[in-house]
Amino acid sequence: MNHILQGKIEEVIGSIHKTIVLDEQGWTSEVRRIFTSDRSYLLKSSYKEKYRTWLKEEAQVLKKLNKKTVISVPVYFGFIEEKDSDHLIMSFEDGMSLTAALSKAASDTERKSLIWSFGQFLHRFHEKEPLEILKGEGDWLEGQLVKAQHHAENGQCDGSLPLLEHLKTNKPAPVIHTMIHGDCTTDNVMVIDGDVQLFIDVAGMTVGDPRYDESLAIRKFMNNPEYVTAFYEGYTRYRVNMEEFHYFDEGLYEFF
Ligand SMILES: Nc1ncnc2c1ncn2[C@@H]1O[C@H](COP(=O)(O)OP(=O)(O)OP(=O)(O)O)[C@@H](O)[C@H]1O
Ligand SMILES: [Mg+2]
Repeated sequence: MNHILQGKIEEVIGSIHKTIVLDEQGWTSEVRRIFTSDRSYLLKSSYKEKYRTWLKEEAQVLKKLNKKTVISVPVYFGFIEEKDSDHLIMSFEDGMSLTAALSKAASDTERKSLIWSFGQFLHRFHEKEPLEILKGEGDWLEGQLVKAQHHAENGQCDGSLPLLEHLKTNKPAPVIHTMIHGDCTTDNVMVIDGDVQLFIDVAGMTVGDPRYDESLAIRKFMNNPEYVTAFYEGYTRYRVNMEEFHYFDEGLYEFF
């Protein structure tokens, strides 16, 4: 890390003693653990324009949620904008992503228990009274379709324009909106002491259609009926049908 950036980080957290690049990296950023004399922090850095925008959105969400204990997310410490990169400083949380926990699990019983815990964690989140500060402007799905169009026209995603037209004309019947994570895959929740306890990667957290979270949550193990059952033993508030699942999983998500 260059001296100027290090200086700016130290203005926020104090003297840095050690930095480690994490084994588990995301797709869109570089994550490092930074140690000071009394604790450690997670530094998340992005370099490409699109990913810098997401990182900035993530910083805004974390900042809004600081001191709001109703939603379990890392604590926000600071955001640094450089010429070619952006850097978000948050608390380091001792755990691993659910994806990593599932691949490390020693038995199917353990995997089912992790998936059940994910279902329950998401259930509780969707059942909470939405926070005013998370509400966006206008209709959530309309807003997502506008962003999707922008990504498709600029070649920034896998989704095609004909698929987008299909999504625009075949919107699912509306349901009551809830707080949503907005990219609720097994990569973006953390397992701590054997349970899913924390959301990370929260750039898309807002008030929107909970079926989006639900569909992304189950996509990884959709072809394993026992895992799906375990999920819905924890998530009992609603169950997406196949049409809804594909609208979001092989539909809208293709544009993000
Ligand atoms: N606050 C944190 N404390 C500890 N580890 C973290 C924290 N935030 C992220 N990580 C680790 O960094 C990894 C990547 O984080 P994150 O999902 O935020 O990055 P990303 O690049 O946005 O991911 P992607 O683009 O693949 O969704 C996580 O899997 C997790 O292991
Ligand atoms: Mg992620």
